[in-house]
Amino acid sequence: MENFKVLISEEQLQKRMEELARQIEKDYEGKEITVVCVMNGAIFFTVQLTLKIKNAITYEFIQLASYGESTETSGNIVMKKDLENSIEGKDVLIVEDIIDTGRTLNFLKKHLKDKGANSVKICVLTSKPERREVDVDVDYIGFEIPNKFVVGYGFDIGGKYRNIPYVAYIEE
Ligand code: IMP
Ligand code: MG
Repeated sequence: MENFKVLISEEQLQKRMEELARQIEKDYEGKEITVVCVMNGAIFFTVQLTLKIKNAITYEFIQLASYGESTETSGNIVMKKDLENSIEGKDVLIVEDIIDTGRTLNFLKKHLKDKGANSVKICVLTSKPERREVDVDVDYIGFEIPNKFVVGYGFDIGGKYRNIPYVAYIEE
């Protein structure tokens, strides 16, 4: 069960986050960013990415679920925790660990637009293009990855393995 192989190393993660941070600083020049972190998976990425960004940032945390204990998606999105503060007129950057089928981010983008954000952009650490079912515009993508179930750096199986410091996949 614990036969993990490195897919994205700690070094690759840091390097790519530096690049994303520079791009985000350029695109949001002079603006305050409201970062919406999708818990729990994106906490690690949100912290390490935004520590590299010099803009003024306020944080909101939202919790959605589409996966149960298994590695299979259920397809329906459940909102477990909504925003704490108004985002009306704010420039929102959603930070998420992965875009897989696209259902979570499609739901979330609509949800935040409905709350009156001035702009809503999306930054994901990883994308599995092969798995996409819903078309969503993603503004920043860290890494495109193959259709493998990953763990580590926030990714879990049934709540475990999030604290592995790199992104790994399970060798079959
Ligand atoms: P969606 O299918 O794009 O809606 O993604 C739903 C959620 O599935 C993501 O936010 C992740 O939490 C989870 N997920 C998708 N692929 C993986 C994986 O390989 N490992 C761990 N979680 C995953
Ligand atoms: Mg998630």
